[in-house]
Amino acid sequence: MTALKVMRGDITKLDVDAIVNAANTSLLGGGGVDGAIHRAAGPELLEECRTLGGCPTGEARITRGYRLPAKWVIHAVGPVWHGGERGEDALLASCYRNSLRLAAEAGARTVAFPAISCGVYRFPVRRAARIAVNAVRDYLREHPRCGIEEVDFVAFDDAVFDALREAVGRLPEQGADEAAGEA
Ligand code: APR
Repeated sequence: MTALKVMRGDITKLDVDAIVNAANTSLLGGGGVDGAIHRAAGPELLEECRTLGGCPTGEARITRGYRLPAKWVIHAVGPVWHGGERGEDALLASCYRNSLRLAAEAGARTVAFPAISCGVYRFPVRRAARIAVNAVRDYLREHPRCGIEEVDFVAFDDAVFDALREAVGRLPEQGADEAAGEA
């Protein structure tokens, strides 16, 4: 059974096998978590990203983690929020499923996600948190032998943290900083 955890913090500091980046279609870096990951990983990350030729919205690409504690970075391109009538929900869910598929193919056992699309791309946070948790749970249920043992949802602010805790379901014995659930 895969453990789902919600935590608050800086995803670049996590010592997990793979961290997911909220990238853009160019894969050439940006602000937000994308900027933080590129800063922490060092210039070799951008060099590898340049070889990938971009990534369509809803898909993901995997690279090495270089100077990050994480072995891999999975660059997922979330949808920009336009009101919900342009397939944003499905594209966001697809980011999570494609990221887990790449993580599993690489042999990652622990994977950490930021709140994809919840910053610059303005996706409503509670809606995005439900989509994220449901997409991860569905993927893990459909792929019971994928080898992923833990999925961490990493919040960088209280609003995202509370939304993710609600989406995962906070067990009474969990500490203030961590909500856990199972896929
Ligand atoms: N660790 C974890 N989460 C973080 C970090 C960090 N170091 N920095 C930011 N975040 C959070 C934000 O607070 C937000 O909740 O990641 C979430 C996603 O926000 P963005 O980084 O703005 O990503 P997104 O909304 O998907 O927009 C992507 O922004 O940075 C550019 O190149 C990127 O064009 C792309 C766009």
